[in-house]
Amino acid sequence: MIPHLWGIYREQQHSPGREFDDAEILRLVAKHVEAAGCQVHLKTPEDLRGANDPSPSLVFLMCERIEVLGLLEPLEMKGIPHVNPLQAVLNTYRDRMIPLLAASAIPIPKSRIISSNSSDPDHPSPQPPTDPFPIWIKRADVHNTQSGDVELVLSPEELRITLASLHGRGISRVVLQQHIPGDLIKFYGIGKPLASHRKDVWFQWFYHRDQELARYPFSEEALQTLTQQAASAIGLEVYGGDAIVTPAGEFFLIDINAWPSFALFREEAAPRIAEWLLRRLRQGALS
Ligand SMILES: Nc1ncnc2c1ncn2[C@@H]1O[C@H](COP(=O)(O)OP(=O)(O)OP(=O)(O)O)[C@@H](O)[C@H]1O
Ligand SMILES: [Mg+2]
Repeated sequence: MIPHLWGIYREQQHSPGREFDDAEILRLVAKHVEAAGCQVHLKTPEDLRGANDPSPSLVFLMCERIEVLGLLEPLEMKGIPHVNPLQAVLNTYRDRMIPLLAASAIPIPKSRIISSNSSDPDHPSPQPPTDPFPIWIKRADVHNTQSGDVELVLSPEELRITLASLHGRGISRVVLQQHIPGDLIKFYGIGKPLASHRKDVWFQWFYHRDQELARYPFSEEALQTLTQQAASAIGLEVYGGDAIVTPAGEFFLIDINAWPSFALFREEAAPRIAEWLLRRLRQGALS
C-alpha cells in the first residue's frame, strides 16, 4: 500500500513576513516525498478541525499553537510518527526552552522568567531590575509573532513601558535576558546524530545579514556540536536557530525553533528533510 503522509502548514499569524518562505519549504518537501512514491496531503491547521480522514502513516508539521498540536495528539498517541514530535514543538516555547537548555548545560544568556504585571505579588517584576542594561525582553511563550514581542530595552523606564505594553496585550509572562555582544549566526539542522554517524546530519550556518560583522573566529565543529546538543535537549529533528559568537570565540545559544523556512537553503534542505521523513517512516513501520 502507498504510504500516505500529512504535511501541516504553519499558522499564518506565526509567519510574520515569512508566509511564502514557510509555505514553500513544506510544499517542496512534499514534492520530494511524492517523488519517492508516497502520497502527501498538505493541510492548514484549520483543516485539522473536524476532519475525519483516514489516519496517515506519518505527519510532518510546521504548526505550533497548543490547540492545533492538541488536534494531532490522538494520532501521535496511536504511534504515528510526527516530525517534529509534538512535545518538541511545545518545548520551543521560551518558558520551556530556557530551563531545558540550561539543564543540558547549553550556554545561554542569563535569563529570568517573570510576570509582566508589576502588581502581581506572587511574581513581581524587577523593581528596580538587577540586570545591567541593555537587556532583552521577550514574550515567554511562542516566538516572535508580531513586532514588540522581542525588544532590546536600554533603561529601567523603557523596561517598565515595554512590560506594561506586553501586559496590555494579554502576555502574562516574559523573559528578561542578558544582552550578548558578538556576531549573530543563524543555523539549520536536519536529523538526529547517532553516536558515530555525525555525517548523517545536515547542518548549515551563515551570518545574519543587517549587522556589522566582526568575524570573530570560532570552531565550526563546536558550533555544530552545540546546536545538535540543543536540538536533542528540546527533542527537535528539523530545526533552526540563532547563536552569538563572542570576541573570545565562545557561543551563546539565543534561540532554537522547530522547522524554520530554510529560506536561503530551501533547494538543498528540502530533499534532506524528505530523506529524514522517509527514514522515520521506515522506522515507524518496524516498531
Ligand atoms: N540575549 C541576546 N543577546 C544578543 N542579541 C539577542 C539576544 N536575544 C535576542 N537577540 C537578537 O534578537 C533576535 C531575535 O531574538 P529571538 O531569536 O530570541 O526572537 P525570535 O522571536 O525567535 O525572533 P526571530 O523569529 O526574528 O528569530 C536575535 O536573532 C538576535 O539578533
Ligand atoms: Mg529567533
